[in-house]
Amino acid sequence: IIPMAELNTKEKRLLPFPVFNQLRQTTPVRYDESRGCWDVFRYEDIHRILKDPVTFSSKRGLAVKDRETILTMDPPRHTQLRGLVNKAFTPKVISDLASRISSITDELLDDVQIKETMDIVSDLAVPLPVIMIAELLGVPPEDRNLFKEWSDILVKGPDQNTDEAFKQIIAEKEQATDELSDYFARIAEQRRVEPKEDLISLLLQAEVEGEKLSDKEILGFSILLLAAGNETTTNLITNAVRRLTEDITLQQQLRDSPELIPGFLEEVLRFYPPIQAIGRVATQDVEIGDFLITKGQQVVSWVASANRDEAKFADPDTFIVDRKPNAHLSFGFGIHFCLGAPLARLEGQIVMETLLKRFRDIQFVTGSEMTYIQSPFVYGVKQYKVSFARL
Ligand code: HEM
Repeated sequence: IIPMAELNTKEKRLLPFPVFNQLRQTTPVRYDESRGCWDVFRYEDIHRILKDPVTFSSKRGLAVKDRETILTMDPPRHTQLRGLVNKAFTPKVISDLASRISSITDELLDDVQIKETMDIVSDLAVPLPVIMIAELLGVPPEDRNLFKEWSDILVKGPDQNTDEAFKQIIAEKEQATDELSDYFARIAEQRRVEPKEDLISLLLQAEVEGEKLSDKEILGFSILLLAAGNETTTNLITNAVRRLTEDITLQQQLRDSPELIPGFLEEVLRFYPPIQAIGRVATQDVEIGDFLITKGQQVVSWVASANRDEAKFADPDTFIVDRKPNAHLSFGFGIHFCLGAPLARLEGQIVMETLLKRFRDIQFVTGSEMTYIQSPFVYGVKQYKVSFARL
C-alpha cells in the first residue's frame, strides 16, 4: 500500500499523477488506517459514488461548528435549497457579469504590464474571483481584503498532521466563521431595509415552500460561496497559465484560434484539477470492487485520479486541447455538481482571452519559487511568476 504521506514530498505534490496511476492499478479501492477512511481511485467507482447520494451521504462531520450548507446536505433539504439558489445563479445572471470580469481583468493587468513580469497568483488569480464573488453578493469593494483573509482561513488545511495542528486550524476556522457571520448579518440587516440588485437581497426575498430562508441559512450560503468559489477559481486560472507556459506553441494556437479556449479550459480542469478529492460517508454497508465499506465509514473519491483513468479517457496523460468527449469530474457529478461552474468557466475564459490578446511569450520565470498549497484536497501552487512581452 502506498501511504498518502508518500504524496507529501514536494515533487509529488506538484505532480501527483504518476502516483495516482499506480494506485489505480494496484489498490483501486483501499482502507487507509492512518487517516481512518477509504480511498477510491477509478473513474467508474467514483462516478457511482457521486451518483448515489442515498448510499453516499454528503453529511460529513465537518469541523466548523454545526453550520449546514447545501454542500453538506442530503435530499430533501438539499433539493429545496439548491433549487432556490439555482435561481440566483442562472446563466443570465452569470453572463451579465462578463463585462465586469473583463474590466477587472484589464485593471489588474494594467497594474503589472509595465514590469513585463507578474505573479499570476497574487496579481490576478487571487483578486479576480474574490472581487467577483464580493460583487455578486453585494459586498462593498473596500471590504475585499477582509474577505480574502477570511476565505483563505476557511479553506486552509493543517500545516502538519498532528492533533495540535488540527486543533489550531479548527480554532482559526471558528473564529473566521464567527467574524464572517457578524459581517454578513450586518449586510443582511441593511438589505432587508433597502434591497439592492445583489444575491443577498435575492436570498432574503426567496421562499422555499412558502417559507423564507433563516438568517443562519443565508449566512451559511454566503460563506459557502466564499469558501467554495475563491481558491478553486484561483487554481483554475493559475493551472491554466501553468499549462500555457509548459507549451509555448499552445499559446500561439489559442491566440490564433480563440474558439479553442473553452475546450482548453476543460482539459486544464481534467489535467490539473483544482479539487483533487471529494468526500462522502456510507449510510449503509456497501460493496465497491471486492471491498465492504461499512455504514458510517468515510469514503474519499480521488477525482484527480479518475480524470486520468485509461478506462475512460484515451491517452489520459496527454494534454489534448480539443479533447472530445471530456467528461472530467473536476466539478463533481450528480446533485452536488458545482453551482459556480458557469462563473468559474466564464472567469477562466475571459482571463485567457485577455492574457493572450495583451501578452505574448508568457514564460515561467525559472528559478522562482513554486510551492504547493498545503491542503491535500487542493491542487495548486502558492505563487507562479511569469514574464511576458506586451503585444
Ligand atoms: C460544489 C469544484 C468554483 C460554488 C463543487 C463540487 C466541486 C466543485 C468538485 C462538488 C462537491 C461535492 O460533490 O461534494 C469547483 C471548482 C471550481 C469551483 C474546480 C473552479 C474551477 C466555484 C465557484 C462557486 C462555487 C466560483 C461559487 C461562486 C459551489 C457550491 C457547491 C460547489 C455552492 C455546492 C453545490 C451543492 O452541494 O449542491 N464545486 N468549484 N464553486 N461549488 Fe464549486
